[in-house]
Amino acid sequence: MKNNKDVVAGLGEIGKPILKLLSKSQIVVGYDINSKLMDQKKFAKHKNLDTHILHVCIPFSNKFQIHVKSLYKKFSPECIVIHSTISPHTTKRIQSNLKIPIIYSATRGVHTRMLRDLRRYTKFFAIDKDAPKVKWASTQYSQLMKKCGVKTKKMSDTLTLELAKIITDTSYYGWLINYAQISNMIAIKHGIDYDEMWEFSDEIHKFLGNRPKMFPGFIGGHCVIPNLSLIDEKSLWQIDKINNSFTKESKNIKSINKKYSKSN
Ligand SMILES: NC(=O)c1ccc[n+]([C@@H]2O[C@H](COP(=O)([O-])OP(=O)(O)OC[C@H]3O[C@@H](n4cnc5c(N)ncnc54)[C@H](O)[C@@H]3O)[C@@H](O)[C@H]2O)c1
Repeated sequence: MKNNKDVVAGLGEIGKPILKLLSKSQIVVGYDINSKLMDQKKFAKHKNLDTHILHVCIPFSNKFQIHVKSLYKKFSPECIVIHSTISPHTTKRIQSNLKIPIIYSATRGVHTRMLRDLRRYTKFFAIDKDAPKVKWASTQYSQLMKKCGVKTKKMSDTLTLELAKIITDTSYYGWLINYAQISNMIAIKHGIDYDEMWEFSDEIHKFLGNRPKMFPGFIGGHCVIPNLSLIDEKSLWQIDKINNSFTKESKNIKSINKKYSKSN
């Protein structure tokens, strides 16, 4: 087998664990604009090895495409896998400007236990039908992940997966928390106990699985609300609106967060 390396670009909350995951089965080096995060010695040691896959783990911005292109120029990989959460159509746009296959592989998990989550979730991926070497790239990526102990599943197109990450993961989570916020505001208004009220739905959820009780905390962090701007759908901005009105109306937000963050 040809001696080559993989590169992980962006050594933050997802890049670092992805680097660690891949390190078990492949020579892999990390690259970051913040050079302090890099293992400079290892990076220099493998400088002359060809790059097999470039794993993009940098945050999305309106310069994302430009950044990916300059990473492509820097490392000349045979294939790029984007692990970041991105705006719909981004993979197709990048693919139309590059002659190597571009895979989108959305990341699921919570940053505090990302390595564990990377191992336990199936890593979905997709590649555009008109990309070069579709079969080769899909096989290379799924085999690499298999070697790392991670199952993969291919989706029919990149747009479906780009939307899935936002619509069925982060925004959906926000939407569910919104209902907890609304029901908590109502409970407070009427002076009743939130948890006691929600006991009523416990069994229904147990039997039917469609009444999850969520915890009415403030939606902070850097996923649910920032991801809304990736899709910019009027209906989904309700999540941000309800979150903000919950903060304004709930005078005891700190104690609510404290109470429920323990059990979340
Ligand atoms: N943090 C999570 O739990 C999580 C979960 C799923 C998906 N994501 C997605 O993963 C992506 C990255 O998120 P994160 O939380 O790891 O971000 P982060 O801010 O923790 O890390 C990003 C890293 O990328 C580096 N970087 C930025 N631009 C770069 C460039 N052009 N070249 C090289 N390095 C560059 C930064 O210096 C930083 O170290 C985002 O799209 C995010 O939505 C994050």
